[in-house]
Amino acid sequence: MIRKCLFPVAGYGTRFLPATKSMPKEMLPIVNKPLVQYGVEESIEAGLKQIALVTGRGKRAIADHFDISFELENQIAGTSKESYLTSIRKVLSEGTFMMTRQREMKGLGHAILTGESLVGNEAFGVILSDDLCLNDGDGVMGQMVKLYNQFRCSIVAIQEVPMAEIEKYGVIAGDDMGGGLFRVKDMVEKPSADEAPSNLAVIGRYILTPDIFDILRDTPPGKNGEIQLTDALMTQAQNGCVLAYKFSGRRFDCGSVPGFIEATNYVYENIYQDGQG
Ligand code: UTP
Repeated sequence: MIRKCLFPVAGYGTRFLPATKSMPKEMLPIVNKPLVQYGVEESIEAGLKQIALVTGRGKRAIADHFDISFELENQIAGTSKESYLTSIRKVLSEGTFMMTRQREMKGLGHAILTGESLVGNEAFGVILSDDLCLNDGDGVMGQMVKLYNQFRCSIVAIQEVPMAEIEKYGVIAGDDMGGGLFRVKDMVEKPSADEAPSNLAVIGRYILTPDIFDILRDTPPGKNGEIQLTDALMTQAQNGCVLAYKFSGRRFDCGSVPGFIEATNYVYENIYQDGQG
C-alpha cells in the first residue's frame, strides 16, 4: 500500500518574479487556495496521507500553511468567518507533514533524491503542485494508485500536447497496452519537435518504486546541468518496467502565467463557493 507522497517545492519559480521573490510559487493562490494545498488534497483523497515536502530557502510559508495558526483560530472561532478554514482544517486533521530542505536546486531528480530520508524503502507518489489537476470522481493520483496496486511498478502521468509545446516536457514513446496505458520504451527530456518520439508528455504526477533512489544517485547531470528524473526513469524502464498513463481529468500548467490564469478562471467559474475555504 502506498502511504507517502513527495512534494518537491524547492524551485525558484522564476517565471512568476517578482511575485516569487520572497513568496514560494507553491503558495500562489488559485482564487482563495494555495496551489500546494490543491495537490495535498489530491494526495490525501488518494489515500496518501503522509505528506513529505522537499522545501528550500524562502519556503517557510509552506511549513506554516500546514500548521495550526493559534491566533487566527482564536480570532475566528465561533464567527461567521469560520467556514473559510474548512478545507485547511480537513487537510490538517487527515494528513501528517514531514519536511526536508534541498540546499542546492540541482533539478527535479535531485529534489526527489533529497526526499529519500522522508520516504525510505517504499513506493511513493510525487505531485508537482504547479500542475493543477481537477476532475470529477477519482483524482489523478487516485487513478494512478489503483494502477500501481495492479502492476507494482513506477507510473508516470501523461497527456497529449500540441507539437508546438512539446519542448517544454519530458516525452515518452511506448507500447500501447489499451485503457490509456503504455509500457515506456523511450523517454526524452524537453526534446525539439523533430526529436520528440511522440506527443505524449509527462506531467507532474508520478508513482515511483524506491529503487529510483539508487538510480538517481548514479544519474549524471543531464539537460541544463540538472539531475533529470526523466533520465532515471529511462534507466528504470530499461531494467524493468515503467508505465505511462493517460489520465482522465483536466490539467493546468500553473507554473506558467497563461496556465495559471486559465486555472484561476476555471476554478472561479466552476468550483469556488464564496464563504467556503
Ligand atoms: P520547475 O522547473 O517547473 O519549477 O520544476 P521552478 O524551477 O520553480 O520554476 P521556474 O522554471 O523557475 O519558473 C518543477 C517542480 O520541481 C520543483 C519545483 O519547485 C517545481 O514544483 N523543483 C525543481 C525542486 O523542488 N527543486 C529543483 O531543484 C527543481
